[in-house]
This record gives sequence, structure tokens and C-alpha cells, in this order.
Amino acid sequence: MDKPTYIAGILIVNKDIALPKEYNPGLNKKMMLSYYCMKLCALIDGVKLKIVSGFRSYDYQEKVYYDYVKDFGKKKADTFSAMPGHSEHQSGLALDICEDSDKFINTKEDIWLQTNAYKFGFIIRYPMGKEHITGYKYEPWHIRYVGTKNARRIYSKKLSLEEYLGLWPKS
Ligand code: DAL
Ligand code: ZN
Repeated sequence: MDKPTYIAGILIVNKDIALPKEYNPGLNKKMMLSYYCMKLCALIDGVKLKIVSGFRSYDYQEKVYYDYVKDFGKKKADTFSAMPGHSEHQSGLALDICEDSDKFINTKEDIWLQTNAYKFGFIIRYPMGKEHITGYKYEPWHIRYVGTKNARRIYSKKLSLEEYLGLWPKS
């Protein structure tokens, strides 16, 4: 089986770099442990975090993506949905945290995650202002586990993962 791509120890999946079709790890245990710590800390602050999407297999993402293409057309779908093999959800390292993505921006959950997620090793993977780099519209609810050391650096330098890993500007 082909292997996922790692750069500096970080698994990378984006519009250019795919995961093998048969890569099917389920939710990453270390990531989930960190998520539950974060969920507890958020609760102490009066904020309820809820996972609405976690692991998605290649086949499941294929259905999700082509349903969007059917409804919105490929050009629009490509701004918010990954092609099969290109979704971070297939890596088991990404979570969507929101009830309703249309109403999430500026909620207390959004603000809490923006401020605190990095402390638990998560980054906002598709940040505002980096759409031309990530290829996706702003998705404050999609968090990606990269470990606390990387997350802290990415957060403090306000980078996308592509910039952090030296994949941007493209050579
Ligand atoms: N919404 C993100 C880009 C995905 O489909 O993985
Ligand atoms: Zn997501």
C-alpha cells in the first residue's frame, strides 16, 4: 500500500497531495485524547464543543463530494469540499466542531477555538485570508491535530499548514 506523505513528521493532505485510497486509519487516538482534554477545558469556560464530523473514509468522502458537485456544480463544491483522497478527514486527524456551519462564525465556540485550540495541539486548518493557499474557503470549525509544539508555532506566526511546511509559495 502507498503511504501518506509526511513533511517534518507532519502528515500532509491537501489539493495537491492525496492519501492512498486504502488508507483507513479511523480516528487517531492521540488526537482524540487531546480533543477530550480540550472539550473539558472548554466546558469549564461554559463552552460546549461537539464533533459533527470526524473520520471519513475515501468511499464516504467520494459520496459527500459528488453529492455537493451534483447540488452546487464542481467549481463551487471545490471551494469547500475535498475530492476523495484529498480530505483531511480521511487522515483521522481532523474534526469538524459545529452544529451548523452557516451559523458558527463568531459564536462563543468559534471564539473559544480560535483562542485556545492550539494549546491542545489543534490548528484552524483553513484560515481566513489563506484561501488562495489552502484552496478552501474559511472553515473555522475544521480543526486539525498537529501536536502542541507545531500548533503553537503555526498559531503564533499566523501561518497556514502549507506555509509552515514550506509548500507555499509553490516551486
Ligand atoms: N471541508 C474540507 C475541505 C473537506 O472536505 O475535507
Ligand atoms: Zn472538516
